[in-house]
Amino acid sequence: MKTVLITGGSTGLGYELAKRYARDGYHVVITGRNEEKLKASQAELKKQGAHVTTSAFDIQNEHDVKNAIDTLLQRHNIDVLINNAGVGHFGPLPSLSGQDIHNMIDTNVKGTIFVTQALIQHLCERSSAQIINIVSTAGLRGKVNETAYVASKFAVRGFTESLKAEYANQNVTIIGAYMGGMDTPFWDESDHIQDKSRLKPASQIADIVYDKSSQGEDIIL
Ligand SMILES: NC(=O)c1ccc[n+]([C@@H]2O[C@H](COP(=O)([O-])OP(=O)(O)OC[C@H]3O[C@@H](n4cnc5c(N)ncnc54)[C@H](OP(=O)(O)O)[C@@H]3O)[C@@H](O)[C@H]2O)c1
Repeated sequence: MKTVLITGGSTGLGYELAKRYARDGYHVVITGRNEEKLKASQAELKKQGAHVTTSAFDIQNEHDVKNAIDTLLQRHNIDVLINNAGVGHFGPLPSLSGQDIHNMIDTNVKGTIFVTQALIQHLCERSSAQIINIVSTAGLRGKVNETAYVASKFAVRGFTESLKAEYANQNVTIIGAYMGGMDTPFWDESDHIQDKSRLKPASQIADIVYDKSSQGEDIIL
């Protein structure tokens, strides 16, 4: 049985990816900060017959990331890493607080790097492995009222492109996924999107990411 680790797997796109991979027989490891949300999502997935492990840690904290990944690797091999956890704060640049900016850079950029760094050696030792970085169309072009978020996603894109070059001769395939808006809790604290129900369902995007990832190329949708 192959194992996929999905950061931010308790809600939104991460949760839908967990459902999709579990449906195809993967053991799914979902992570996030909030243990209660993780346990609730684990219970839901188990009802659908999934084999699910949870691990609660903050990807902003390098030390916690290392400890959590080391603990997981004592019991499981990981074949696929999906760097999905991410946050967004939107509005005109002057309206963003220092905390908003730190939160986006520390989660989206540093968190993705810390988790990848903790797992890369293990993934290289698998016969075949994948890293899928969930970026966004915000990693492709600039957008009004999204300055710092877009900056963080361009950074994730740069990280992804460089990983591809650095690990080109290894058994790890690196994929960037660039999607537009999805109807997820991501927008709950924001008025940047007026009606999130008009956005695509995350389940639809999860199916596409899952299907296209087998081609080993970036996914732009
Ligand atoms: N929704 C969209 O329109 C959209 C469009 C394009 C790309 N994206 C990207 O898609 C990804 C998933 O977003 P989503 O829409 O599914 O949002 P979501 O429902 O808010 O999910 C975000 C997940 O990340 C986790 N997370 C946040 N900060 C974390 C931290 N510091 N450490 C560990 N886990 C953390 C959250 O769990 P906890 O709160 O429990 O930590 C949650 O499970 C993000 O990278 C986002 O940028 C979203």
